[in-house]
Amino acid sequence: MRRALFPIVVPAAFALALSGCRNDMHHQAKIKPFRESKFFADGASARALPEGTVARGFLREDAALARGQGPDGKFVERIPVPLTRALLARGQERFNIFCSPCHGRTGEGQGMIVQRGFKRPSSFHVERLRAERAGYFFDVITNGFGQMSGYAMQVTPEDRWAVVAWIRTLQASQHMPGDFLEREDRERLDK
Ligand code: HEC
Repeated sequence: MRRALFPIVVPAAFALALSGCRNDMHHQAKIKPFRESKFFADGASARALPEGTVARGFLREDAALARGQGPDGKFVERIPVPLTRALLARGQERFNIFCSPCHGRTGEGQGMIVQRGFKRPSSFHVERLRAERAGYFFDVITNGFGQMSGYAMQVTPEDRWAVVAWIRTLQASQHMPGDFLEREDRERLDK
């Protein structure tokens, strides 16, 4: 090789060699999702999940907790978790975040989105919904209802029960038999 070419050829060779070194993981044998492959006889690149496979953390064995249904497949009458102050606080918070934009903070059905033209949902304080089973509310949150979409992705099953507990609290706040209160409290209310 002529001496004059040295300053060009040698660095160029180095550059080539070095860029070759960074190739390690870039060009490996791999199969992109849903791409055809000869590895399995059926030509698919992946195997179907064995029947009954459950993702980690998603084994929801308790139908009442997970779907709001009893063994008879009907909605459970009562909330299947212990009612605590913490649960109500959580339910209030989740309700105000996820539901009040439409249902309003008191559940009347006059949230901001409704004021801007979305379908007005029924108030939670009508007789029909006061009499409704707890599991029904859980189901509506999970799967949606009519124009309302489900909130299974945003609200965990535990939080859904907290929200149901808060709906019950709202309902109670608007409809309590008078004799539920102590006499002096009732007198104060009557004034
Ligand atoms: C984007 C507005 C919107 C949000 C947010 C929303 N809802 Fe609704 N919801 C509606 C509408 C509208 C209906 C009535 C749907 C219909 O009749 O087509 C409804 C219906 C319902 C019903 C059924 C009432 C009946 O008449 O039987 C329940 C219960 C309910 N929503 C609870 C909730 C809860 C709990 C949340 C929060 C997790 C929530 N909704 C969030 C709009 C909303």
